[in-house]
Order: sequence, then C-alpha cells, then structure tokens
Amino acid sequence: MANSSKSTTGGLEGVIAADTVMSLVDGERGRLVFRGHNLEQLAGRQVEDVAALLWRGDLPDSAGREVIRAALAEGRIEAFRRLPTLGDALVAADGMDALRASIAHLPSPTSSSAELEGLSRGTEGAFLAGAMAVFAAAFWRRTLGQPVVPPDASLSHAEDYLRMMQGEPPSREALRALSTYLITVADHGMSASTFAARVVASTGSDAVSAVVAALCALKGPLHGGAPGPVLDMLDAVGTAERAESWLLGELAAGRRIMGMGHRVYRVRDPRAAVLEGAVETLERSGSAGGRLGLARAVERVATQILSERHPDRALRANVEFYTAILLDSLGISRRMFTPTFAVGRVIGWYAHIEEQRATGRLIRPASRYVGPDPGS
Ligand code: COA
Repeated sequence: MANSSKSTTGGLEGVIAADTVMSLVDGERGRLVFRGHNLEQLAGRQVEDVAALLWRGDLPDSAGREVIRAALAEGRIEAFRRLPTLGDALVAADGMDALRASIAHLPSPTSSSAELEGLSRGTEGAFLAGAMAVFAAAFWRRTLGQPVVPPDASLSHAEDYLRMMQGEPPSREALRALSTYLITVADHGMSASTFAARVVASTGSDAVSAVVAALCALKGPLHGGAPGPVLDMLDAVGTAERAESWLLGELAAGRRIMGMGHRVYRVRDPRAAVLEGAVETLERSGSAGGRLGLARAVERVATQILSERHPDRALRANVEFYTAILLDSLGISRRMFTPTFAVGRVIGWYAHIEEQRATGRLIRPASRYVGPDPGS
C-alpha cells in the first residue's frame, strides 16, 4: 500500500488548521490556557463561568453568571420539553449513540429559530449544552428503567446534570469535583471533535449538525472513548503488585495502554494533574472509592515501561486516566463517561463553531494522490 498507516501526514500532526482565541494547548510545557486563563485558575469555578469565558470572552461578574445560568437552565427546560418528540432516539445500548440520535432530532437554531420561542433569553450554545445534559441524563434513567428527572432551573448546570442522572442532589464535594471535570474538558485546541465541528460549521451548515459531527468523533476510543477502558484496566490489574505483569502482557498482545500518551503533550497532560487533585480532595472528604493509590501505582509503572520502549516519545498519563477514577467516584457508570465528556466539551464546540462562522471561510484541505497514474 503506497499510503501506509504510518504516513506522517495522515494524522495532520502539527498542522495549524485555524487561528483560535479559545484555548492554548502547550504540549512542550504542559500548559492549558482558556482565553488567557490557566486551567488551574479556572478549575475551582462554576461551569457557567467557563461557558461565559468561552462564549463571551470574559469571566463573568455575579450578574453575568446569572445570565448564563438562566440561559443554560432554559436550554435544559427546552430540551426536556422535546423529550416526547424524540421517539426511540434515546433507546440505545450506547450512550453516545443515544446522544448522537437525540441531538440530531433538534431543530437547527439558525434555520428555524421560530421553533425556539421557548428559549427567550437563551443562546444557541446554551440550548445545545442544555440538551446534551438533559439527553445524557435521560438516556441513563431509561437505561436503568427509572423515571426521567425533569430539570430544575434553580440549580447550576453541573448540579442539575448530576441530579437528573442520579435522582438526588449531589453533595457539595461531588458537585465541586464534577464542576472541575466539566471545566477541565470544556475545550482543548483543535481536538478531533472540535475540528469535525469546525469543518461542518465552515460549510455554512447549522450548529446542531456541527455538534452531531463532533459527537461522532468524540465517540472513538482514540479520542473520548478511553476512560471506560481505563477503569476496566484498573479492575483487571487489581493490585499495585500486579501492575507490571499486566501492563507487559497488554503490550505483548499488541494493545495500547489506555489513558497514556497524547498527540500534543510531550509531558504529562496538565488536565491529569487537575483531575488527580480533585480525586484526592474527594477521597479526603470520604466520598471517593479509594482507587487513587492503585491508579497512581499503575500510572507510575506504565510511565516507566513506556519510557523504556519509546525513549524518544514521552508517553505520559492523559486526561482520561484520572477522568475514569473521578467519574467513578461520583457514582457515574463507566457507560456514561464519554456522554459526560460531551456535556463538558459541547461548551468548547459551540465556541469554536461561532469562531469558525465568523471567519466565513470553508475548510477544504488538499490531499496528495499516491495512486496509479493512468498515463496520458
Ligand atoms: N500505549 C502503548 N503504546 C503507545 C501508546 C499507549 N497508550 N500511545 C502511543 N504508543 C506508541 C505507539 O504504538 C507508537 O509506537 P510505534 O512507533 O512503535 O508504532 C508510538 O507510541 C507513537 O504513537 P503514535 O501512534 O504516533 O501516537 P499518536 O499521537 O498518534 O497517538 C494517542 C496519541 C492518544 C491516540 C495514543 O497515545 C493512544 O492510543 N493512547 C491510548 C488511548 C487514549 O488514552 N486516548 C485518550 C487520548 S486523550
């Protein structure tokens, strides 16, 4: 095959596909910046603050936070109102299939705004973010065979998401950990899903279509689908003493270690540290499941083994490694890990969709033909 899978152009490494003000992913120094703010400075705030930052450009004051909070609440209520019209879209074995189908049912806000009368103060982004949370939670309630929980407009977005999923309001510690998670994953430069959203937005298509494309990309295990397998790995490893033999067995079988490695970071993913810290806080409050010690041991051994095998390529823990333990500690099923990622990332997707629209430019790269030449 002329174009092998090891092609250096195949993954577009290092190719700059857009100018963005949304986030800086500094792979050499291990820094993640959202619109001028280091992730570490934002991680303790509310999801509403980061939505305001990415959508409007500044961290809000308390009045501004209320506006975003109300818009997200209206988005959730409007999405909930649409549940009966979704048919079987939420009946799926896989949460991402359910999200893809249910989000695809939404009217395109740009082309049919008359259908969104209920969303008086809302924005398109808040509508999509509200829908993601409501549909993800509703999918899970139906999977459990339990009644769907309607949104509560008085709650913050993160609090309501966990309540709609679990049927009861979260503890203060759980809410703080989930907020940290949703903020941490809200944006990440030109990730595969963000690029997919921008490509679709660049064609002049609507935001619903762009978000559906992003969901499809996020579903893959090389992007958003890894945290479930990370937890499977910790289950299979069982104890720190078994980590080395288990990991060597995986590599001998030709499999990758989930939650390790990253396309951009050449140091440890800064998001791993933020989430690891959030799990540590949860464990100290007695709310987490006590897996942090095992996870740290597995990470240590995996880092060691991978650095011996790939001395020129730093393969360190990525965001998904500690995502797995954090979400598991909150009582979120591993089947809901990637949908919960989507609940956070849709905030960034929408910011990029707007940014791409503003350029008015179609994304249409070139390919290099490496097939046979028929001659003249
Ligand atoms: N475990 C074992 N080996 C790994 C590895 C992992 N997690 N990640 C990369 N490698 C190896 C590759 O097999 C390759 O080896 P080779 O040169 O001998 O063929 C080498 O490291 C370079 O990997 P490459 O495929 O160029 O990295 P990438 O930038 O394309 O991939 C990921 C980045 C994230 C897709 C990759 O690290 C991976 O598959 N990680 C596991 C899945 C995961 O955690 N995804 C979540 C990402 S946030």
